[in-house]
Amino acid sequence: MSEKEIFQTPPLFAAQAAVDGDRLRQMTEEAARDPERFWLGQAGRLDWTWRPTVASGSSFADDVSIRWFADGRLNASVNCLDRHLAERGEQIALIWQGQEAAQVERLTYRALHERVCRMANVLRGLGVGRGDRVAIHLPMVAEGVVAMLACARIGALHVVLFGGFSAEGLADRLNDSGAVVVITADEARRGAKRIPLKSVMDEALARGVPSVRHVLVLAVTGLDLPMHDGRDLALGPLLAEASPDCPAAEMAAEDPLFLLYTSGSTGKPKGVVHATGGYMVWASFTHELVFDHRAGDVFWCTADISWITGHTYVVYGPLANGGTVLLFEGLPSYPAPGRWWEVIETHKVTTFYTAPTAIRSLMRDDGGTVERHALDSLRLLGSVGEPISPDAWVWFHEAVGRGRCPVVDTWWQTETGGILIAPVPGAVPQKPGSATLPLPGVELALLTDKGAVIEGVGEGCLCIARSWPGQARTIWGGHDRFRQTYFSFCPGYYFSGDGARRDEDGYYWITGRIDDVINVSGHRIGTAEVEDVVATDHRFVECAAVGIPHDIKGQGLVVFAVARDAAEPGLADAASLAVTRGIGRYAVPERVYLVPDLPKTRSGKIVRRLLRKIACHELDGLGDLSTLADATIVGRLIAVVGSAK
Ligand code: WT7
Repeated sequence: MSEKEIFQTPPLFAAQAAVDGDRLRQMTEEAARDPERFWLGQAGRLDWTWRPTVASGSSFADDVSIRWFADGRLNASVNCLDRHLAERGEQIALIWQGQEAAQVERLTYRALHERVCRMANVLRGLGVGRGDRVAIHLPMVAEGVVAMLACARIGALHVVLFGGFSAEGLADRLNDSGAVVVITADEARRGAKRIPLKSVMDEALARGVPSVRHVLVLAVTGLDLPMHDGRDLALGPLLAEASPDCPAAEMAAEDPLFLLYTSGSTGKPKGVVHATGGYMVWASFTHELVFDHRAGDVFWCTADISWITGHTYVVYGPLANGGTVLLFEGLPSYPAPGRWWEVIETHKVTTFYTAPTAIRSLMRDDGGTVERHALDSLRLLGSVGEPISPDAWVWFHEAVGRGRCPVVDTWWQTETGGILIAPVPGAVPQKPGSATLPLPGVELALLTDKGAVIEGVGEGCLCIARSWPGQARTIWGGHDRFRQTYFSFCPGYYFSGDGARRDEDGYYWITGRIDDVINVSGHRIGTAEVEDVVATDHRFVECAAVGIPHDIKGQGLVVFAVARDAAEPGLADAASLAVTRGIGRYAVPERVYLVPDLPKTRSGKIVRRLLRKIACHELDGLGDLSTLADATIVGRLIAVVGSAK
């Protein structure tokens, strides 16, 4: 498809949209002309106990200091709950759909408020207070949302941990964050399988996590489990006994709201820190603008709550805006293909926000079930997490949206807190495959790899020239790493790690990561992380990990490993096992190649570009091999990959 193919907003949608082209232009102008005034105005969407009198005080220079609404005071859970009670206490805030059709729970704002207060009191009873870190390691059940808001209520920072992390991955994050309490569950349901959350957590804690005083265990499947005396507590009875009233801690705007771990091109995963005021303004602002949020919407974001998408668009954005969110525990095609469509129909979902990896797999394996569902309730579709190919975009638009629903392709990152690039649906025509234009107040720049600004049409490194309220403030315990990672590429700019192209209409087309990070089914994995865990097996001298295109996952992981004794059996499996043990099942390599050596430059740097091409069997254009310390390695690598084909 040519990028000239433009999808105008369907007329029925456009006629009702809150923001049209004129209004968006006006907002964009205001935000550029007087950002201080514009953002102070946007701060008004929240309830503050002390309304901020200043908006920005951020600087990307020198030490990098990011501050928004610095003198404001507020509580995030009050903004998501208490302030709605008078007007919409009886409105449904959260619909929980369990894996089985009969498992449904509908929580009004009043009921959710009560559940959050009880959980907050349980935490307080264990001595948790302001600034403490609480790890949340739960399946997609209402208690996950409740636990996040309970932390926010008492000023504790939540650290939500993905159920797919290995014991080692959990232990690293618990130790780095210094979590004092862990909230986990007996098991998670995943189709016919069960994920033993508590026992993986036990294994993590057995590795030595001195900061953790208590483990609260939620009964999800009711499995009988060994409990550690004095450390482990059954959560259910504690919640039942706890008081349903809990005062909210008044927080400063810049107090951290949560940490969330994500991978980068070097070292171990880093705890990205988000601050209360700016993050909440960004979550509310973007949820309303990009999803054209209005009363009566049922908003379904399919992301797990352990990712930033779940934080901002399952919890904080929609609840701050008084919306109704759907939380689904199950899988797209369990017990049978078409499960997602059933959920949309049952709960009359209006806004459906998912990931390209899911869209691609539904497009291929849905068995035509989508046509058998009316899906009349849908009015807007969204995509996030990786570039969406035009064919998947068009399928989403036609087969799911029946041509009635605009598709918002939203670009953002854990570090940006919320969406930065997306078509405001009533205002911006869409081009399949393009995230389109930056939101008001977002100043993008394309830079060459030497740091020169590219004007007009061109392709380069995607950077941001000025702070926005939702921006991460630092890396937990590593401000210098924060500065190094994001601000050293070109002084004065935040560097995203992505490449992008800008077309003649000013639309952005994200081309993917240009650093050593790969994106497997929307999960960020650092190649350095993979290489480090394989290196812990001393049967390997060294290894290199690269991402190659994958039909469903977007990218797949391929590992080239050099063994000490190549004759030893089972080495490829050992390398895979090292990755699943060290990181988690989701990072399992597609292929492990045992190779005699790695291609390196004369200064010893591994040439991953070459490995990627060889792994993809792209042998015509291997490029200039004269920079290699030993060019004969190329032929030997091709032989290994070829013979494994
Ligand atoms: C990376 C951020 C944003 C929440 C989910 C992932 C890629 C994200 C898009 C998009 C092309 C995208 C980028 C980005 N990405 N959205 N619409 N088009 N690429 O958050 O784990 O922090 O990953 O996801 O490469 O840098 P994350």
